[in-house]
Amino acid sequence: MRNKEKFIVILKPDGFRRKLIGKIINRFEEKGFDILDIKTETLSVKILEEHYVHLKEKVFFQDIVDYMTSGPVVIIAMEGLNGIEAARMLAGSTNSAQADPGSIRGTWALTIDENVIHVSDSVENGEHEYIRFF
Ligand code: CMP
Repeated sequence: MRNKEKFIVILKPDGFRRKLIGKIINRFEEKGFDILDIKTETLSVKILEEHYVHLKEKVFFQDIVDYMTSGPVVIIAMEGLNGIEAARMLAGSTNSAQADPGSIRGTWALTIDENVIHVSDSVENGEHEYIRFF
């Protein structure tokens, strides 16, 4: 089945600080995804409380907010065949220590908290996140 899906990738503040923007966008482009929109901004607490509402009760919630507001991020809307599944494979496991060595997190990250990128985890969330960020 050939399904074109839209999704959001956020290059997190550690990736931005480490000058990984070009390398990470290149990985998605080489995989075959199309870039629909792209922008740089420092995220507000308000938008993060909405984006991470499912994690609000977690002990690490404030740490995520502090980290995600610690500097600029790059928000990229992309589209591609089987986009969500393929993009999440390219990103690698959320816990970077367990990420496939060929994946983005497997290449550039070691931990679960500073894991370089966020990728939408479902078609529905991809659509919601597109509206939220663009
Ligand atoms: P992300 O894909 O942005 O979605 C939720 C984020 O929460 C996740 O990436 C991680 O960065 C973060 N996260 C998940 N589990 C933990 C944890 N145990 N400790 C700290 N951060 C976490």
